[in-house]
Amino acid sequence: MKARWLGHSAWLIEGDNKIVIDPFLNGNPKAAVKPEEVSCDIVVVTHGHGDHLGDALQIAKANRATLCAMYEIAAYAALKGVKSEEMNKGGSVQVGKTTVRLVEAVHSGDWMDGEGELHTFGTAAGVVVKSGKTVYHAGDTALFSDMKLIGQRYKPDLALLPIGDRYTMGPQDAGLAAAFVNAPVTVPMHYQTFPAVPGDPADFVEAAKAAGYQGEVRVLEPGDTVEV
Ligand code: NI
Ligand code: MN
Repeated sequence: MKARWLGHSAWLIEGDNKIVIDPFLNGNPKAAVKPEEVSCDIVVVTHGHGDHLGDALQIAKANRATLCAMYEIAAYAALKGVKSEEMNKGGSVQVGKTTVRLVEAVHSGDWMDGEGELHTFGTAAGVVVKSGKTVYHAGDTALFSDMKLIGQRYKPDLALLPIGDRYTMGPQDAGLAAAFVNAPVTVPMHYQTFPAVPGDPADFVEAAKAAGYQGEVRVLEPGDTVEV
């Protein structure tokens, strides 16, 4: 499985299918690609905040891809003409050869759009995608000890963890999260896109080591690919 970091929490996963997760590209100063350059079969959205929902609807429509998300987001996308699979935490859906499962995340999900309209998108989720190999994308979340359960139950080959602080875990808590999930490869995300998310990946590397994480932390630049 190849996972290409598109910047912030946006990823393009190439396993048995092509899956894009949280494609916030327009308005993302670190975006590695434009929305119209994304080719995919499946679009996964962890929660309704603008820096995750991003260009998901446009990309799903352009690719005739299936959007998988929490009920509230998927129902909204369906009303906008997107092929959608609605789901909720603990459940999975099969799309092609890929299994998409929503898991816990400790974070909010409602989103105030640019016109001041509040979209009640339910709570935020993490996602475990099995497409050949298995990737755990934590979405936006605080540290929680059931990350251990996610690691034990789904044995991800790759973990993608937010480290930016303010809206999510910072580097210290994310280091412990890496040890809890214990994937062989862990990549930090959701940092230094904006000044509000200053988390330093070097601090994360150190914190993961101090927490006893035995796997490998790979610090990427937007546009880089990791293979597991
Ligand atoms: Ni968020
Ligand atoms: Mn976010």
